[in-house]
Amino acid sequence: MGVSAGRLLALAALGEARRSGRWVRDALRRLAERSDESPEDRALAWRLAMGATAAKGLLEERLRGLARRAGSIQPQVMDALTLSAFELLYLKTPIPVAVSEGVELVRSAAPRATGFANAILRKLAPLRDEVHAARERMDEDTDTEDDVALVSGLPRWLLGALNRSLPRKDFKALCSCSLEPAPSWEAKVGEGERATVLRSDLAAQAVALLTVPPDGTSRLEMGMGRGTKTLIVAHALAEAGERAELVGVEPDRRRLQLARGAFADLGYDVAAYQVDGRALDEVPELRDRTFDLVFVDVPCSGTGTMRRHPETPWSLSSKSLDSLDPESLVSLQSELLAAASRSVAKGGLLAYSTCSVLERENEGQVERFLASYAGRAFESEDLREAPGYGRLPRDVRAFVDAHRGPRGSFATSPAPGAPDGHFLRFLRRT
Ligand SMILES: C[S@@+](CC[C@H](N)C(=O)[O-])C[C@H]1O[C@@H](n2cnc3c(N)ncnc32)[C@H](O)[C@@H]1O
Repeated sequence: MGVSAGRLLALAALGEARRSGRWVRDALRRLAERSDESPEDRALAWRLAMGATAAKGLLEERLRGLARRAGSIQPQVMDALTLSAFELLYLKTPIPVAVSEGVELVRSAAPRATGFANAILRKLAPLRDEVHAARERMDEDTDTEDDVALVSGLPRWLLGALNRSLPRKDFKALCSCSLEPAPSWEAKVGEGERATVLRSDLAAQAVALLTVPPDGTSRLEMGMGRGTKTLIVAHALAEAGERAELVGVEPDRRRLQLARGAFADLGYDVAAYQVDGRALDEVPELRDRTFDLVFVDVPCSGTGTMRRHPETPWSLSSKSLDSLDPESLVSLQSELLAAASRSVAKGGLLAYSTCSVLERENEGQVERFLASYAGRAFESEDLREAPGYGRLPRDVRAFVDAHRGPRGSFATSPAPGAPDGHFLRFLRRT
């Protein structure tokens, strides 16, 4: 019996991601472009490869626990086994089908490991009932830590950090959907014949729209990435027939090139510089000048967008979130926030944003800044005073209002069928 094309595509994507260090979704896109699988096979490949990556650590631990000589499992066999284990535990494929497809998948990678795969997948199969029972206990609110770990596929240390950061209801909602596909949202950008749509989460769009600057003012985006939020801002201004000076900085050359290409294609006037946000003085045009609004979209744990970036949970480390470690992400965020604050004009706004749901990267980070020497020149500003708030489309405004935190910030967290986790808080320079 041959293995299905979708499962083979998923296996090829895991292999390519492992060897090249690429994200699995990029590997899937590249491979799918070069092959002619049916839409159903592509959908299955996507589901399996994203899910197996998101629960990688948990699946590998279970598989190794069942194998007699765990150390000797070849990487390509482990790839095939984790795909099959994900299907066996989390999807609705009948168990005999999932096991036999798994065995064939392993055969395609390493024919001599077929017997081993057969034995291990059969031993794993009863765990599907445990996953179901754990999910039921989560629904009834009688769950244990083990239940949440099994259903979410997330590492224990991260579950602890999420639990400490989120209200219980939000924590459970995030955990119950962490292995589900991310819902998709689109944003229209570009005018006339150049109009196109971008894939952008609704909460990310809300963050961008809240930072649309007033007509005739200036906006700096620190951490501009591929320019998605800048494009949304430029489009909102163009639609309103307004103009503002848009500037962005981004140290990553490839992302900057993509952003510049998109601005050129759509005819948006954005000055984009390749520079570290902490070293704006290196750019003569940015030296000794300020902006009416500085939006700092910092690199973060990505704990709000794990459904889109399944590598996140098992590649993050607690060390990267340690504010006492000068090399950590949290330390970089503090440095970028402090650097961004120096570019805000008197009376202007500083907008700090992440796609994290962790307190120490969000409110904790802003509170630490406010308590610092540089932070003394700033005070909190409610998002309803943000320049973009008044022009939000009605449905986006309702969404923003529903996620307005006690300090006037915008904070969402993933839930089944709901947008990703994003955070935005405004501060005004007094
Ligand atoms: C959350 S992403 C930004 C997404 C982007 N604003 C958008 O809407 O597409 C964070 C960005 O910060 C950039 N970054 C990392 N270190 C930085 C630094 N030292 N200075 C400025 N940007 C940095 C990353 O390369 C990444 O593109």
